[in-house]
Amino acid sequence: MSTQVCIIGAGPSGLLLGQLLNDAGIDTIILERSSLDHVLARVRAGVLEQGTVQLLEQAGAGARMRAEGLPHDGFAITRENDTHRIDLARLTGGKNVMVYGQTEVTRDLVDRRAETGGITYYQADSVQPHEFDSATPHVTCRIGGEEVRINCSFIAGCDGFHGASRRAVPEGAIQSFEKVYPFGWLGILSEVPPVSHELIYASHSRGFALCSMRSMTRSRYYIQCNAGDSVDAWSDAQFWTELRRRLPPEIAESMVTGPSFEKSIAPLRSFVAEPMRFGSLFLVGDAAHIVPPTGAKGLNLAASDVHYLFEGLRSHFLERDDSALDAYSQRALTRVWRAVRFSWWMTTMLHRFPEQAPFETRILETELGYTLDSEAARAALAENYVGLPY
Ligand code: FAD
Ligand code: DHB
Repeated sequence: MSTQVCIIGAGPSGLLLGQLLNDAGIDTIILERSSLDHVLARVRAGVLEQGTVQLLEQAGAGARMRAEGLPHDGFAITRENDTHRIDLARLTGGKNVMVYGQTEVTRDLVDRRAETGGITYYQADSVQPHEFDSATPHVTCRIGGEEVRINCSFIAGCDGFHGASRRAVPEGAIQSFEKVYPFGWLGILSEVPPVSHELIYASHSRGFALCSMRSMTRSRYYIQCNAGDSVDAWSDAQFWTELRRRLPPEIAESMVTGPSFEKSIAPLRSFVAEPMRFGSLFLVGDAAHIVPPTGAKGLNLAASDVHYLFEGLRSHFLERDDSALDAYSQRALTRVWRAVRFSWWMTTMLHRFPEQAPFETRILETELGYTLDSEAARAALAENYVGLPY
C-alpha cells in the first residue's frame, strides 16, 4: 500500500488532520490500534477553544457541535465558601469557549471521514514507523492477521502518550521534560442537570473539585483524589458527599445527584518532548505533550498542532513550499509551552498538595486571592483559558 501521509492513531488529532488533508486532496491512511467502539467510548475533555471550533468547522465536522454544543461566556472559581465569576467575554473582548464532549468531537470526525471516503484501519496491531530519516519512510503493522507495509512521504504520529511514534525516535535525538503531580482526578458522568449553567472550579481546603457538563441534562464532575486511589474504592455516595463538601453550601445544596454511568481516575502530569519533528515523522497532540486537565488545554493543544502541521503539509504538496513544514516544531512548541505553563499554574493554584510547607500554602493562597481581585490578573487568566492565538 502507499499514501502521501500515513497517520498513526484515530484520536481527535489523527482524525482532524486526516480530514483537513483529505479535503485538500492529499491522500491519507489512518492506522488505529483499538476498535472503533473503543475509540468512541472514551470519555475525556469537554471544553473547546474558538480555534478548535473553527478547525472542526473547516473539516466539515462542525454542524452538530454548533447545534448541540453549549457556548460559555464565563465560569466560576470558588474559594472555600465564596464564588467569583470570570467573565471571559468581557475580559477578552468578546471571546468564549464551547462545551462539547471529546466523545462527540470524535464521533463527528469519524462520521465525516466515512462520508468522504477516507480510509481508516481499526485494530491495526504492532504499528511501527520506519526509516523516517531516509528517502523511504514507511509504516508496518498487522491488519486482520496480515503483515502490511505502507509507503508514504510523511508519517504523522497522532498516537497519544503511550503510542509507538515517539518511542521509535532514537533516545539521543529527543529531549523530554516531565512533572508528575502527587494527585489524580476522579471523574464521573451522571444523567443529572448541571448544578450551574457555567463551569465551577472549586479551590477548597479538602482539595480541588470541578463541576462541568456535557449537556443541560448530563453532568461531568471531578474531585482531586490521592494518586494511588482506585475507582472501586469510591462509591457514588462517597463521591457526591465529598464533592458537596468542597463547594459553597448554597451550591452544594442545590446539586442534583444520581447514579454515575462512567467513573474513572486520570493521573496528572506535565510532559513535553522536543523537537516535534524527526525527518519525515511528526509528533502531534498527546504523542508529544501532556498537560494536567485543569484549564482544559489537552485536546485544544492537539488541535493547534494539527493546524500548524496541516498548513505545512498543504504548502508542501500544493505549493511546493516547505517553509511552514520546517517551522512546524518551533511554532507548535512555542504554543505548547505556553499551555503547559498555564495548566501548571492553574493546577498549582487550585489544588492542595500533600505535605505542603506553610510558606507554599500562603503563597498559593495569595496567588489565588490576587488572581480573583486584580482585573489584570483575571484578564491574563481569561486570555489563556479561551486559547492563545495560533
Ligand atoms: P489520543 O486521544 O490519546 O488518541 C491517540 C489514538 O492513538 C488513540 O485512539 C489510541 O488508541 C491510538 N494509538 C495509541 N497507540 C497506538 C499505536 N501503537 N498504534 C496505533 N494507534 C495507537 N483534556 C482536557 O482538556 N480535559 C480533560 O478533562 C481531559 N481528560 C483526560 C482524561 C484522560 C484519562 C486522558 C488520557 C486524557 C484527558 N485529556 C483531557 C486530554 C485529552 O483527552 C487529550 O489531550 C486528547 O485526547 C489528545 O488527542 P490525541 O488525538 O493527540 O491523542
Ligand atoms: C472538563 C475538563 C477539564 O479539564 C476542564 O478544565 C473543564 C471541563 C470536562 O471534562 O468537562
